[in-house]
Amino acid sequence: MPRQVTLQPSGRRFTAQARESILDAALRAGLNMKYRCNNGTCGECAARLLAGEVAALTHSDFAFSRARKAMGYFLPCCHAADGDVTIEAAEYGRGAAPPRQHITAKVKKISAVAEDMVTLQLRTPRTRTLQFLAGQHAELRPAEGGSCRLAIASCPCNGMLLEFHIRRDGSDFCQYLFTRLRCGEDIELNGPAGDWSLDEQSRRPLLFIAHDTGFAGAKSVIEHAFALELAQPIYLYRITPAAEGYLQNLCRAWDDAMDNFFYHCAQHADAAAAAATIADDITTRATAAGIAMREADVYLAGATGV
Ligand code: FES
Repeated sequence: MPRQVTLQPSGRRFTAQARESILDAALRAGLNMKYRCNNGTCGECAARLLAGEVAALTHSDFAFSRARKAMGYFLPCCHAADGDVTIEAAEYGRGAAPPRQHITAKVKKISAVAEDMVTLQLRTPRTRTLQFLAGQHAELRPAEGGSCRLAIASCPCNGMLLEFHIRRDGSDFCQYLFTRLRCGEDIELNGPAGDWSLDEQSRRPLLFIAHDTGFAGAKSVIEHAFALELAQPIYLYRITPAAEGYLQNLCRAWDDAMDNFFYHCAQHADAAAAAATIADDITTRATAAGIAMREADVYLAGATGV
């Protein structure tokens, strides 16, 4: 039977399964709980049990002082909730961002999703996942081809599997990525950075306007909003250089599956030149949907350059 976990001081609640670690359940629910190793080594996830009982899932070598033990400190990455619990734990995102991390990740998949356009999936070691806030970016450095700063396109609820969207240009990075990079190769990852992120406290409608690969950061934030089960309407307006934007089927699937998600895509070869048309179009659509632009939180995401 699922257990109810209440996190203090934020007061946020999520459910955890009987044999699921409290940390995994929190991440799955979109909470940015502080952690690092996820295996009971570092002590970074330390939390305090305020009410209820927890049960150890795995052995941990991390030792709390006797005083902290007596205060109820435990490791959520190694414990499950034994009934409903209330815990006190640190979260990122309330004025505190995850620290810069340096991780060696492996290329898991390179998928061509449009002409001169790929999505790149990286897998981090299980004990060195990337902690980031939805909407942040990271620097990627393969063995050759220099480096590139890219928006992370995946949800922070899975810091082990990271996604990036790359449109080919004349850079050395793209030359290497599109012609020689292979699955299984190492890529050095530095990040996260950036403060373009979701205001989780807001209950206003969310309007995302994403040009081309700007969809990457928007996708991360939207998936995070889904994980948090935010109830307000979420509008995604994509501006694409080609008639069919990449990953259109994903956006349409969201539109079909989520009652509060609405998707529209418009083709404009030059987003800047088409700005007035786009603004009119968005305003008309927002009005038709019953929201005034000034009542919405607007997130603008431009295409990333290498
Ligand atoms: Fe390292 Fe829990 S995350 S001990």
